[in-house]
Amino acid sequence: MNHSLHRPKVISVNSPSEAAEKTSNMIAEMLVATPRITLGLATGSTPIPVYQDLVQRHRDGTLSFAEATSFNLDEYLGLAGDHPQSFRAFMDEHLFRLVDMNVSRIHIPDGLATDLDAHTKAYEKAIAAAGGIDIQLLGIGSNGHIAFNEPGSSRTSRTRVVELTSDTIQANSRFFDRAEDVPRQAISMGIGTILEAKRIVLLATGPAKAQAVKDAVQGDANESCPASLLQYHPDVTFVLDAEASSLLQ
Ligand code: PGA
Repeated sequence: MNHSLHRPKVISVNSPSEAAEKTSNMIAEMLVATPRITLGLATGSTPIPVYQDLVQRHRDGTLSFAEATSFNLDEYLGLAGDHPQSFRAFMDEHLFRLVDMNVSRIHIPDGLATDLDAHTKAYEKAIAAAGGIDIQLLGIGSNGHIAFNEPGSSRTSRTRVVELTSDTIQANSRFFDRAEDVPRQAISMGIGTILEAKRIVLLATGPAKAQAVKDAVQGDANESCPASLLQYHPDVTFVLDAEASSLLQ
């Protein structure tokens, strides 16, 4: 493991759409250069315009996912992949069904897995067998989480079952009819898993992310802000709109 700290690179633009375009440019450039790439993908509201842009490039004939492999960060425990609020359904809707991904190379934790220990270990093995993740796309929670690694998650954590915090459940309740319907647990790649990606791009937009971004980029690297642990990685880029970068000095 890398023990030295690095200052993340920050790209700050005006609007959320410019931030999404910068992010999709990075992904598209890598995919064009390396068609057999392994992508680490994220869900949430923030990356939706990134996927829209990638889908548009595919429709324009400039981008193919046919040789790519993907691993998503996380999935709700207890939700089937065809449950409308599952992350698998989100990815199908926003990317997988709209491009030429080979379904056999799509990986996302199975929210209905019964032997969770075997399932999470197999997920880690599959990432390694694919040669590791070439570029990992991340969002950030307003509490500093990355994937579902909530505050307190260890730098060495691996893919595992995690408990969601009440603020995450609250933030995600907008996608469910009732807050009680939001699952309390998820399967998430660990911070140690994420730190093994060759390159990491974190996209954050809007004022609700400003404090978490400041803590992640300029705060001490510690478990109270999981995204600050990205300082242990030598190639991290934060792509921010004006609001998300507003507290950076
Ligand atoms: P959001 O989620 O893009 O919906 O804000 C990001 C996250 O919680 O990681």
